[in-house]
Amino acid sequence: MGERMRELLGEPRVAPSILSADMGRLGAQVEEVMDAGARVIHFDVMDGHFVPPITIGPLVLSGIADQVHDAGGAVDVHLMIEAPERQIEEFAKAGADSITFHYEATPHANRLLHSIRELGCGAGLAINPATPVEGVAELRGYADLVLCMTINPGWGGQKLLESSFDKLERLAPLVGKAPIEVDGGVDVDTAGPLAAAGAKLFVAGSAVFGTDDPAAAYKAIADAAGAA
Ligand code: DX5
Ligand code: ZN
Repeated sequence: MGERMRELLGEPRVAPSILSADMGRLGAQVEEVMDAGARVIHFDVMDGHFVPPITIGPLVLSGIADQVHDAGGAVDVHLMIEAPERQIEEFAKAGADSITFHYEATPHANRLLHSIRELGCGAGLAINPATPVEGVAELRGYADLVLCMTINPGWGGQKLLESSFDKLERLAPLVGKAPIEVDGGVDVDTAGPLAAAGAKLFVAGSAVFGTDDPAAAYKAIADAAGAA
């Protein structure tokens, strides 16, 4: 994993998800949240198979990566795609700092975590709400971050699943040193309880970009999460 990502993951962070940003002025939206203090930008990739929607890919990533890096930040790529092993090289080339794939999307999670590290990126493992935490224990030490979905992936603006809190408590002892990332339904009300349950990286899409003032919204969630 790159030095910058390692450093950034060393303390709690809120990562705005550009899924809810205005894509017509993506650069300006990224600038707004980075000026407010955000340093990890969450980048959601959907393929129309693993989840129904299709979103963005390496071309858009390469369009924002320099801007994020020049401002001292990192791009956290979340692949909600089938056969993620076919795509990681493209995303690494396009400027990803971490690449997270879904446990449910490949029978070769261990090998893929190795491959992502070999590309110089942080290797992230994501699990869906229906996936038991136990599989993650087998991959302890191989993942640089573990993403616990707190909604069913595919869409922004959903309500956080209440079962997530109990799941996070059960996941925390299994991840070793890897920080736990939460994604879905994170807002100013849920960030504090998620932090108490062990989360360190908080993805927030609609709660940031769905408001009139993304900078203020980012700061309020970061405060609530106890994040940098
Ligand atoms: C959904 C994505 C999320 C999404 C979260 O599958 O992985 O990153 O942006 O959206 P909110 O924060 O609105 O729940
Ligand atoms: Zn995501």
